[in-house]
This record gives sequence, C-alpha cells and structure tokens, in this order.
Amino acid sequence: SEQPLAPTPPMGWNSWNMFGSTIHEDSVRATADVLVSSGLKDCGYNYVVIDDCWSTKVGRDGNGDLVADPEKFPSGIKALADYVHSLGLKIGIYSDAAHLTCASYPGSFGFEEQDAQLWASWGIDFLKYDFCFAPTDQATAIDRYTRMGEALRKTKRQFLYSLCEWGGRSPQLWGRSVGGHMWRVTGDIFDSWVDIWVAPHKYYGVGIDTAIDIAANLAEYAGPDAWNDLDMLVVGLKGKGQISGGGLSFIEYQTHMSLWTIACSPLMIGCDIRNMDRDTTSLLTNREVLAVNQDSLGIAGRRVKQTGTCEIWKKPLADGSLAVALINRGSIGSDLSLRASDIGLLDTPKSVRNLWAQADIAEFGEAWQTRIQPHETLLLKIKA
Ligand code: GLA
Repeated sequence: SEQPLAPTPPMGWNSWNMFGSTIHEDSVRATADVLVSSGLKDCGYNYVVIDDCWSTKVGRDGNGDLVADPEKFPSGIKALADYVHSLGLKIGIYSDAAHLTCASYPGSFGFEEQDAQLWASWGIDFLKYDFCFAPTDQATAIDRYTRMGEALRKTKRQFLYSLCEWGGRSPQLWGRSVGGHMWRVTGDIFDSWVDIWVAPHKYYGVGIDTAIDIAANLAEYAGPDAWNDLDMLVVGLKGKGQISGGGLSFIEYQTHMSLWTIACSPLMIGCDIRNMDRDTTSLLTNREVLAVNQDSLGIAGRRVKQTGTCEIWKKPLADGSLAVALINRGSIGSDLSLRASDIGLLDTPKSVRNLWAQADIAEFGEAWQTRIQPHETLLLKIKA
C-alpha cells in the first residue's frame, strides 16, 4: 500500500512570493542547487514548487494540453523535473479549479484528468490547486477539489495535494476526504505585521499578527497527512519580491517562524535563497526549532492562555516534553509569568530550554517569570 506522503508538515520552496510572474527555469534550477548546497535540503526542505504563471497565457495546444511558456521554460518542465529529481528533491506545480488561475493563466476545470496525466508524465510530485474564478460556495469547492483529487489518483503517481481556497469554505472539515494533504487556512500572507489593503485586487493581504488568531482556532483539525497551511513563509523577503509589505524585523520574522512551527504549518520558503543573509539562514535552519514542527506525534500547538498582550501556546512532543511559545503581540515589552498549571504541568521541577538560542536557560517549579520584547516570541522546550 502507499506510504503516507506527509506524515509531518511538508517543507520546501515555492516560487510565488519572490518571483511571481517572473518565474524562469534558470531561477528554479539555481534555487534547487542552493537547497542542496546551503544545507536546506538536509534540514528537510525538499519540495521545489512552481507556482502560477508557468504556462502560456493564450491557452491550450491543439490536443487541449497545457503548454509551458517556452520563454520561461525553454527546456520544458519534464527536463526541469528530471534535474530536480537528480538532486534528490521533488517538484511541484500549480493550477486552479476554474477556467483561469489567479493570475489569469488557463485553469484546470473540465480538464482535470488530462492535466493530471500531463503532470504525471512530466514527473510532478505535488500540486497546489487554487480557487480563483470558481463559484464561492462550499459545495462547489468540495466538488471541484474532489474532481482533481480523483484525477490525480487515477494517474497512479503519488501527488502531494495542496488545496488553496484560503480557508473561506472551512477546508479543514473536508480537505482530507477529497485527498488533500494540506489546505490553506489564510488569505495570502504578506511581508507585514499588520494586514494590508491591496487596492487593485480589493482584498486584505494577511499580516503575521492576524495569522496568530487564525491558527489558534484550527489546531484540532491538523494531523499526519492533513495540515493547516498558513501560507508560504515570508522570512527573508525583507520587502523584496512580488508580494507587498515593507518587510518585518528580525524579531517579527522569528515570531512568524515560531508560529508556523508550533502550529504544524507546512514550511514553504518564499524568499530568494540564492541570496540569503545570516539572519535568514539562522531562522530557516535551526534544527531544534524544525524538530518541533516535524515532531512525529504531529499534534498542532494550541493557544492555552491570553494575558494582556501576551499569549501562551503549547504543543506536546513525542519525547514527552512540551514545546511552548510565549508571544507578545503588543508594541511594548511585557513581563509574563508562566505557571506550570498554564501548560498542564505539576509543581515538580522542570527544565526550560530556549530553542532559538539552543540553550538551557532555567528551571522552575510553580512559575517562571520572563520578559518578552514587542512582537517577540520565546520558543521553549519544557521537560518535567
Ligand atoms: C493566490 C494564492 C497565492 C498564489 C497566487 C498566484 O493568490 O493564494 O498563494 O498562488 O494566487 O496567482
């Protein structure tokens, strides 16, 4: 029988945040090379996903097949997939459950089987399936995602199936049953702490602060092969790339990464990894942090307490310890007292390890007092 494709949250890189419609096979190849040479692949980032704008805009060929844009992919996607596979990585592609994608390239509605067969013939391992231009009701979403899920299954090739309807139709309730392994639960995350009004498209880009509340309400739906997707990472974009937002501070990127980690979101890098600085590398490759996201229990963290501008999250880990996030969403520093009872522990001695610093920092019985900077998250491992 088939191995589960996503026993832990999927990890990789996606072209959209950085390249948008300027996607090109040269940047995809170079990115795949850097995934290997930088050690990101060894950390678990193994999917290279080509997002929207990869096909010709005019439409399908005489056989009704989608055609890769020959200017962007002169070698063709099969050759690119072979190259990505030769590095021990997997490759993903993108389409939409309507006649057009979000950027108005041809979508797959009515062509599900034909497109799935084409991608399978190219060696594609992952499909991100978007929902722009589709009727907005839940029944239609379930129907259209089922159609593509069945088409993927018919190919006999294993596809990781990533649903992207932005959470509006509660995909956490039906994503698993249509064959999905992950489903977006947010609108598009922007490189910003607060939400941003995107005037030409008349929607809000979602800021990191809003994602905290979205993730807090969905933990119970996540589990092996079924993940709440908080969207691609904006870590390292720093205001560059194709999506808006002025960029976050180091502390805010760390909070973003801590939330995605403890909530068991997929970790799809969105920045230009060919030009990563040390801060970005450290945020993406901290092994103790990634181990929390990839923990074999696959239990998404829950928010257990809100106090002032701060909140406490906890996530049980396979070794019997707890990952705990202390988040200060406020714009001034705050003192926080973490009580053993807040995280369901007794007054017996416990050790506290700071995972970002990879250092044991305290022991406590009943309560532990700390100070958290504005927008900062302390990500801890607490062992009784
Ligand atoms: C939507 C999705 C994004 C991206 C774009 C591409 O906005 O939510 O993640 O795929 O479409 O056009």
